Amino acid sequence: MRFDVFTLFPDYFSGPLSTSILKRAREADLIQIELHDIRDATTDKWRVVDDAPFGGGAGMVLKAEIVAKALENVLNFDVGVSAPPCPVVYLTPQGRTLNQSLVEELATHSRLALLCGHYEGIDERVIEAVQPLEVSLGDFVLTGGEGAAAILIEAVARFVPGVLGNENSASGDSFATGLLEAPHYTRPANWRGRDIPEILLSGHHANIEAWRLEEALRRTKKRRPDLLGEWQQRELSKRERKIWDKVQSERQPDDEPTLDTMPGADEPGAPENIDEENTEK
Ligand code: ADE
Repeated sequence: MRFDVFTLFPDYFSGPLSTSILKRAREADLIQIELHDIRDATTDKWRVVDDAPFGGGAGMVLKAEIVAKALENVLNFDVGVSAPPCPVVYLTPQGRTLNQSLVEELATHSRLALLCGHYEGIDERVIEAVQPLEVSLGDFVLTGGEGAAAILIEAVARFVPGVLGNENSASGDSFATGLLEAPHYTRPANWRGRDIPEILLSGHHANIEAWRLEEALRRTKKRRPDLLGEWQQRELSKRERKIWDKVQSERQPDDEPTLDTMPGADEPGAPENIDEENTEK
């Protein structure tokens, strides 16, 4: 699978795309990532890519012609006239929120172009002309689309056959089943006085799977109850139904830690500077 990334900051990607699984996948030629500097589409001496917004206001706006030329030069199409050879994804907080089903949908394509915005955004006319798929990582604002593009590539690449060592790995993920995952444990079986759930030592695979489903449901109910509706709408086996009924009937403890109560949180009313040595007495 090939990703063409259009960015003003190609250096941003050198770490995340050259580490661990993505590094191996690129070396094995399972994925190709081409970085294209949008600034290379300029023709003026100063290589200007942006300008002040019409109507005034803060920040700068990426020029329509520069973005169009950057895409056209690499993707060999005419913006607004012919169709690009692959979907163009524009990373923006105004887009559709990325989730696992959108990731899987994107992974069905053999090539994706990713357009990273910067400054206040991109001149709307080139967005209208290209009609990219606008994708957001969530309801927060990054300094640009680069972080979002790197994350999208990582999530999508996991579905390219061979990228994960074990072909099944992506199918057992949180969200692949529509539920969060059950907790994981490894050796030692007792760590600082904490035991692992005994069932995991039983060697009884069916019971272990049933335990994992129960824990996954419990965790999802506690942390992401919004996911349960869709899971329940699937046709449940007798066993799944039984486990679901059990978890459903449990009372939810209401003493979950919050950002204010979790270990390490500031004491209410504590002075902000807790560095005693640097505090004037
Ligand atoms: N660019 C800036 N903020 C973003 C976000 N939340 N998602 C995707 N792209 C962005």
